[in-house]
Amino acid sequence: MHCNDGIIVSMKFEGKTVMVTGASRGIGRAIADAFLDKGSRVIGLSTSEANWSDKNYFHLVMDLSDPAVFSGVTDKLPSGFKNIDILVNNAGIKRWTELDTSKIDDWDNTMNVNLRSIYFLAQTLHATLAKSESGRIINIASQSGVAHVRSSIEYGLSKSGVIYLTKSLARALAKDGITVNAVSPGRTMTDMTGYENDPTELSKAVARIPLGRVNSTQEIAETVLFLASNEARNITGQIISIDGGEALF
Ligand SMILES: NC(=O)c1ccc[n+]([C@@H]2O[C@H](COP(=O)([O-])OP(=O)(O)OC[C@H]3O[C@@H](n4cnc5c(N)ncnc54)[C@H](OP(=O)(O)O)[C@@H]3O)[C@@H](O)[C@H]2O)c1
Repeated sequence: MHCNDGIIVSMKFEGKTVMVTGASRGIGRAIADAFLDKGSRVIGLSTSEANWSDKNYFHLVMDLSDPAVFSGVTDKLPSGFKNIDILVNNAGIKRWTELDTSKIDDWDNTMNVNLRSIYFLAQTLHATLAKSESGRIINIASQSGVAHVRSSIEYGLSKSGVIYLTKSLARALAKDGITVNAVSPGRTMTDMTGYENDPTELSKAVARIPLGRVNSTQEIAETVLFLASNEARNITGQIISIDGGEALF
């Protein structure tokens, strides 16, 4: 803890329980790791198993595109993990689609994973988040939904929806002391972008970014931790972009 002219910055999460969707890899994994490092209990969620041997970690295998999964979520949690303080809606999918070849099933799947799951997880976890003395929802949006950067229409639209939903939920849940904010990453080094295996695409991306590099997953996690912290207790309905200034072009 650093004390500086009366400002106290602690970012403590001991005793908190955090649910992170899409925790098997990429940004979600970095977020789950960061909360575990800070002493929280973490429930990770994805369609695949995740190998994690930490007594403070529990993994739920769950397909967020399935409408049947939401109602029983807390019943599937072991005791000690049931009282959730912080929900991080990170799971997402992105397909490169074009108007002439798009399929309705793919459109629905993108909307259901990227957008519908946030609304219905919020509904399911509302009671437990309201019981927490510091209930938080943090959604992972995208600069594709903020600045209309080149992307597939369905993906960008789902992320614009995440921004609208963030503000709507912030308004609706303020009465219960729950804050709702979003982090909006620009290009980030994960499987979704594939930059690790494609140096040509990486250099093209970097050329468009004023600060000259793409995000690391840890940089997204750090901002999520800030929004979940006591320091951010009076911030709600906000969208924080992390894009190295790409939207300024
Ligand atoms: N990487 C970027 O440049 C970037 C930029 C802006 C925003 N974002 C957003 O950041 C979030 C994380 O992206 P990422 O780059 O870390 O992607 P990623 O590496 O592809 O990871 C996506 C995560 O979501 C999970 N997931 C996918 N479909 C799911 C489903 N139906 N049910 C449950 N979990 C599901 C995946 O696990 P399973 O496959 O095991 O289910 C995985 O854990 C996404 O919302 C993405 O849109 C990423």
